[in-house]
Amino acid sequence: MTTVRVELGDRSYNIHIGSGILGRLGSWVREVSAGDKALLVSNRRVFALYGETVSSSLAGHGYQVFPAEMGDGEEYKNLATLEKLYDLAFARGLDRRCPIIALGGGVVGDAAGLAAATYLRGVPFVQVPTSLLAQVDSSVGGKVAVNRPGGKNIIGAFYQPELVVADIRNLQTLPRREIKCGLAELIKYGVICDAGFFNWLEENIDKLLSLDEGALVYAVAAACRSKARVVEADETEQGRRAILNFGHTAGHAVEVLSGYGVFCHGEAVAAGMAAAARLARAMGLLPAAQVRRIVSLLSRAGLPVSLPPSLDSGDMIAAMRQDKKARAGRLTFVLPLAIGNVKLFDDLPEELVRQALS
Ligand SMILES: NC(=O)c1ccc[n+]([C@@H]2O[C@H](COP(=O)([O-])OP(=O)(O)OC[C@H]3O[C@@H](n4cnc5c(N)ncnc54)[C@H](O)[C@@H]3O)[C@@H](O)[C@H]2O)c1
Ligand SMILES: [Zn+2]
Repeated sequence: MTTVRVELGDRSYNIHIGSGILGRLGSWVREVSAGDKALLVSNRRVFALYGETVSSSLAGHGYQVFPAEMGDGEEYKNLATLEKLYDLAFARGLDRRCPIIALGGGVVGDAAGLAAATYLRGVPFVQVPTSLLAQVDSSVGGKVAVNRPGGKNIIGAFYQPELVVADIRNLQTLPRREIKCGLAELIKYGVICDAGFFNWLEENIDKLLSLDEGALVYAVAAACRSKARVVEADETEQGRRAILNFGHTAGHAVEVLSGYGVFCHGEAVAAGMAAAARLARAMGLLPAAQVRRIVSLLSRAGLPVSLPPSLDSGDMIAAMRQDKKARAGRLTFVLPLAIGNVKLFDDLPEELVRQALS
């Protein structure tokens, strides 16, 4: 097992990463919360697989566990779900010391996290991420949110968990496509800030695809360490945290234009990272050989490396200008200067972007 510490002063916390560690959850939760009740938020699929292990571990450490089931899917990351969570917590008498625990992927983590941030003005929050994306990305860093019909994640908060427990054995039951989506975010960390990890990924991508436990623990820990360092430097996204959006400018446009659900997030981000790498080459920032390494690693992970030809480049540009992270409609890209080093460019000429996209 590996533990990564996120250093944020009095909001610091541990991320425990290992194989078969779910049964130890109760003892770790006990270290961070004194309450006698716990709200366990999950969905039907994940609860059926891991709810029992988690509940009995919590019960073994003195928690009365109240399961709170939410719908499975992005469309349930909404205010109606939050209301149900608040009402259940209140009806069961959870007080300010009682933890809210998220067991599931990023959808469960984001919704349960916002409930924890706001119920009684904030209660201890514990993340138990069960998807690869949640283990390497959404469970770390303290962004919690729900969606509105007009936009993703528009109601949210920065609220750090007290503890994250990532059991990579849970990934054995994760659909194959979700594994690949998580790999896209792993590759992202290599490109943005960890050249050594990128090299490691080139050598070990096949082990990750075959769910080798040692390789998964190593990779999830490396990713969490990278994300922790970025978040420590810029908890509330005033600057450096924006590098985590590498691949996401074009990626979000692909998701929006092709209709949510056609491409999963990681696939769209993979195509977006390849596009950003090509754009960097066109601007003379990144050598062609490094573009080839990025594209080749993404395709070995089974991810798309080109934008869908059906998407019109004018529509893509319009969508990117409307992205909520683009300031004043400017074309904002995180571009690699080398593998392991990126820079934010926040007003790129449209013609350049158009050429790189096509
Ligand atoms: N807060 C952040 O910083 C942050 C960062 C990135 C993404 N996100 C959010 O994360 C969400 C996406 O997360 P996701 O990719 O985990 O999607 P998800 O939560 O929808 O999970 C994907 C699917 O896998 C299932 N699943 C999860 N774990 C499983 C397991 N071990 N075995 C079998 N099935 C399992 C889920 O039930 C779901 O059907 C989005 O809402 C996105 O906005 C948040
Ligand atoms: Zn992402």
